[in-house]
Amino acid sequence: MSLRSKTLELIRRRQQYLQGGGEKAIEKQISMGKLTARERIKAILDKDSFQEYDLFVEHEARDFDMGSKVLYGDGVITGTGTIFGSPVCIFAQDFTVAGGSLGLMHARKIAKIMDHALKLRIPLIGINDSGGARIQEGVNSLAGYGEIFFRNTLASGVIPQISVILGPCAGGAVYSPALTDFVFVVDNISKLFITGPEVIKAVIGEEISMEDLGGARVHAEITGNAHFYASSEQECFEQVKKLITFIPWNNSRRALPFKPKEPLKDFNIEKIVPEDPTLPYDVRDVIKAVVDDSDFFEVQELWARNIVIGFARINGESVGIVANQPMYLAGVLDVDSSDKAARFIRFCDAFNIPIITFVDIPGYLPGVDQEHAGVIRHGAKLLYAYSEATVPKITIILRKAYGGGYIAMGSRHLRADFVFAWPTAEIAVMGPEGAANIIFRKEIAESPDPEKTRQQKIKEYKEKFANPYVAAAKGYIDAVIEPKETRKMLVHCIEISKEKVNTNPPKKHGIPPF
Ligand code: HXC
Repeated sequence: MSLRSKTLELIRRRQQYLQGGGEKAIEKQISMGKLTARERIKAILDKDSFQEYDLFVEHEARDFDMGSKVLYGDGVITGTGTIFGSPVCIFAQDFTVAGGSLGLMHARKIAKIMDHALKLRIPLIGINDSGGARIQEGVNSLAGYGEIFFRNTLASGVIPQISVILGPCAGGAVYSPALTDFVFVVDNISKLFITGPEVIKAVIGEEISMEDLGGARVHAEITGNAHFYASSEQECFEQVKKLITFIPWNNSRRALPFKPKEPLKDFNIEKIVPEDPTLPYDVRDVIKAVVDDSDFFEVQELWARNIVIGFARINGESVGIVANQPMYLAGVLDVDSSDKAARFIRFCDAFNIPIITFVDIPGYLPGVDQEHAGVIRHGAKLLYAYSEATVPKITIILRKAYGGGYIAMGSRHLRADFVFAWPTAEIAVMGPEGAANIIFRKEIAESPDPEKTRQQKIKEYKEKFANPYVAAAKGYIDAVIEPKETRKMLVHCIEISKEKVNTNPPKKHGIPPF
């Protein structure tokens, strides 16, 4: 065969394989409001940067008539490319080919690109759209999943791993995304569940739609499995690209710095926190008042809203932000908010992203529900995460810092590098009302006007303890600063902490309260 005819054969074959499941299946995919796997990769990566590998991989299954079936690319597309010039490994399951189901060769393609990502020390992005284990391939499919989960675990904390759910992700398949750092979902398109509606109906007789069982909103609002929620695939891809700008390629690098930008003038930091300590406010306004360009990229925005986490930049450097949110449940800590913040802190610590904490917390949420849901175990995760983190840690106490909440929210005692308090800060074992009721109970009860005495005792307690100066006198906080000095202080601390060295005792690994 001449070189020309060999080239023509290559072009013909490539065309055939690039078609995936063929016109009819692609039409069905589009009719479901979904892009094809190839379009998705193109939409995420820089123009013309995608290099595909293993296009011609074929399955070797022979049972159930599989020998006669050609599954182009075996239902998954893998390769490398760039996002804003930064390299990534990527795979996208192709639902048009046997429902994107995972057979042995499909799994091997994914495992191979994961190995590349880990060796090359660059982020991995996985686009999931699959009917799960390829039923005809039996235990080989299960083996394939196992290989993927194992690699997810080894890569954890070494390279960032991102999962984008753009179709069904059912059965054990959900555990690969769950092992990755960030999960993206899209309204009406993403479906994640262990057992589907049919199984639930057969086993326990309950009827539920796929959307209500494991749709995008369910995971963004209720389970906390999703970190980013979008209303369209395009919006989702913009979110993925934005995330990439805030994180480094791997755990031995820092995120690439940006050109510093001042916050917008729309956020007046002097006026955000109300004078009355019982009134709520949106802590995101405080964050936007101090970060570059007022650009706060919130993570898990719709779940456990009593704590706010996300990425921003200070003087061009990427930082992770953790903040109590007085707008929801008065900003208390509970089971979910502890989990949310703890995991984010561990991500930031693993990837050299300094942590800034804004504190306004009345304490832990009291109640039987919380106690029985394991608030002790979950709350301990937050203590663990802050304590073990060796990245620069800066804490600003805005208002209340009561009890265990004071300690848990990045206190000096958990090795914060810098702790500042606004003059409005109240640092105490508990709120003045509760404290006065307990320590002056007898005096209040025996006084001729108990209510007047109670108010007087609350005032006395407030004057003595509900301020930042007792903690400042003991060196637990480094400075009492005016709100308008906050950004300047943060810029300074981030600048001087760039060479920070801090290590933990050598160990195989700790045993956090998972
Ligand atoms: C083989 C599959 C498949 C699978 C879908 N297909 N899932 N083939 N194995 N798991 C094929 C279909 O036969 C069909 O092929 C094509 O993909 C498109 O599927 P449809 O059913 O027509 O699509 P749709 O109506 O959109 O429904 C999508 C679906 C449904 C909801 C995902 O296909 C479904 O319920 N699939 C089975 C899901 C499942 O139970 N998976 C196993 C989970 S257990 P043709 O040739 O007709 O086009 C599991 C264990 C993993 O994953 C454990 C790991 C630890």
